[in-house]
Amino acid sequence: MATGQRGPEFRATTDTYRHIDFLRVTEEAALAASKWVGKGKKDEADDSACGAMRTALNSMAIKAKIVIGEGERDEAPMLYIGEELGSGEGPEVQIAVDPLEGTNLCANGTPNSISVLAAAVAGEGFLMHAPDTYMDKLVVGRECKGVVDITLPPRVNVRLMAKALGKDVDEMIIGVLDRPRHESIIDELRDTGCRVHLVPDGDLSVAIAALDPDAGIDGLMGIGGAPEGVLTAVAVLCTGGEMQARLKFRNDGERERALKMMDGDVDRVLRQEDLARGSVVFCATGITSGDLLRGVRYRRGYALTESIVMRSATRQIRRIETMHQDQS
Ligand code: FBP
Repeated sequence: MATGQRGPEFRATTDTYRHIDFLRVTEEAALAASKWVGKGKKDEADDSACGAMRTALNSMAIKAKIVIGEGERDEAPMLYIGEELGSGEGPEVQIAVDPLEGTNLCANGTPNSISVLAAAVAGEGFLMHAPDTYMDKLVVGRECKGVVDITLPPRVNVRLMAKALGKDVDEMIIGVLDRPRHESIIDELRDTGCRVHLVPDGDLSVAIAALDPDAGIDGLMGIGGAPEGVLTAVAVLCTGGEMQARLKFRNDGERERALKMMDGDVDRVLRQEDLARGSVVFCATGITSGDLLRGVRYRRGYALTESIVMRSATRQIRRIETMHQDQS
């Protein structure tokens, strides 16, 4: 049976959901996207991931609404903001998705493409409804919580982080997206002696890896997508790290849209409670192996996926390897 077309046994049977059920959603999307790894077809990979994610969400006993998705209804055929999914029974759940984070990475077969979902039950958790603009991000793990400030220069923050971690600055590794707009951040960090982990895409994987003390990345700095930023904030909330952010608008239209979607000053420093709070769930499954997760691996007759599942209510972080049988 083709990926994303599971039989009735896949359907949730109870009238409620367990947070772990969201794992199936990112797994299905990752399996679907993995068929396109290295094939140079990012749109096809994205469509497959979206279709599989949508099917999986529709099989869950929830009343789901997409709050961060593939864009507005007129620009995305599915998983658009406002789309309602799920069986229509069970709790109302707000969902933020990035079915294929790192479309070029998947198309080129390079590290760090993942499938991601965050969920918050209405009234219990909150996800910022982020406009599709850029966001300046500073993400650190729990040991650096309370010591950084996004309004300070990167050289100051990296020194403060090194002190909190008990490291020399030249032992620090900071993830940064490889973009011309980051030239000055990269130069400034390198001038301190700090090592820079430059990635061509996928700041979400790098940010979440920075929350894990064993992943070998101490933080993420720089400007990436705002929707990816909110997904990152959910993982930060679950792990106890810290994220600070500022929206960066490319034009007046984006600013207008933010003014309509958000409360308060749209230029302010956004802190954890502005981005995600309360009871939230985060799931990601690797598509291509990278800083955070191993990608989908095919064996004779089955596929292996690696995922991470986090829940803020319990602060539990699970890494789960799943064997998917009958994969062709
Ligand atoms: P896509 O999955 O949409 O291709 O996004 C990849 C990504 O690198 C994100 O990880 C990052 O936040 C954003 O794009 C950066 O945007 P830009 O490529 O415009 O600098």
